[in-house]
Amino acid sequence: MDLKELNQIRETALAEASGAADAAALEAVRIKYLGRNGLLPEVMAQLKEVPNEKKPAFGKGANQLKQELGALIKERQGELASGTKKGEAFDSSLPGQWPALGSEHPISKVTARITEIFQTLGFTVADGPDVETVWNNFDALNTPADHPSRDEQDTFYLENGDLLRCHTSPVQVRYMEAHKPPVRIIAPGRCYRRDTPDATHSANFHQVEGLYVAENVSMADLKGTLSYFAKQFLGEDVKIRFRPHFFPFTEPSFEVDFFFEVGGKSRWIEILGAGMVDPEVFKKVGYDPDKVTGFAFGMGIERLAMIMYGIKDIRMLYENDVRFLSQF
Ligand code: DAH
Repeated sequence: MDLKELNQIRETALAEASGAADAAALEAVRIKYLGRNGLLPEVMAQLKEVPNEKKPAFGKGANQLKQELGALIKERQGELASGTKKGEAFDSSLPGQWPALGSEHPISKVTARITEIFQTLGFTVADGPDVETVWNNFDALNTPADHPSRDEQDTFYLENGDLLRCHTSPVQVRYMEAHKPPVRIIAPGRCYRRDTPDATHSANFHQVEGLYVAENVSMADLKGTLSYFAKQFLGEDVKIRFRPHFFPFTEPSFEVDFFFEVGGKSRWIEILGAGMVDPEVFKKVGYDPDKVTGFAFGMGIERLAMIMYGIKDIRMLYENDVRFLSQF
């Protein structure tokens, strides 16, 4: 007999001991290997036949097997007697545990709903990076060099001169630079501003941008599109109104309010910024303002979610407290 055979015996013996289904089967395994006339005493008896130089290794192997198997059988005896496996206490009368299920975040929900509505009008979803160039975020959007939003106190600048976009409007620029008109996109995404966090401000928030450019796009198209959106989003009874405003990238520009019921009473609530794309923007992205016109709009998702769900503090949207999130 040699070490290889000894190893084979070891493997079978350990497998049989592990696999014994009850105490009687285990006892049979014990007798088969460790009993007085068992295999292991026989192996020991053969030690004298083993060539001298191999004796120490063989003897050591045989002894180890005896101890290993003895320990395993003892452990299995305990397990079979108690009905539990080592390291595991199992009470089959306990009720099962459900894994805690997450829920869709209100910001994702609102974004998905807005996207869905504009998709039914043929808008496709466009995307842009959070880190933007000054050109895409400001210059190409006709933002004057001294506009306050460019200030370092309002916008996060990176060391290389790029910035964290302060609105989703740069996606308009990217998209127009890469595609010929007509374009009809919405662009949901994250934005950043150096605001001190409080109940209504967060340095990181979300917007959805919209852009439609083609021949003969008019204010009537803008109004029709936003009315349709308002009704789909909030119901047939909603009304909308345009208030003149200023944005560098649209002319004319508006703030758009929706009239709808929140918390039991109907009122006008400012929902988005919009306007007709300024010809200067078309020139910067290489479109001919004599050939195309367009409208654009942008809205804040957190604001909408807070109004719709009656959330009083924007920070709750970022704390990821499941007790809060599971309500939506
Ligand atoms: N970018 C504006 C903001 O962050 C929102 C906006 C207003 C986007 C008018 C537009 C627009 O596309 O036409 O406040």
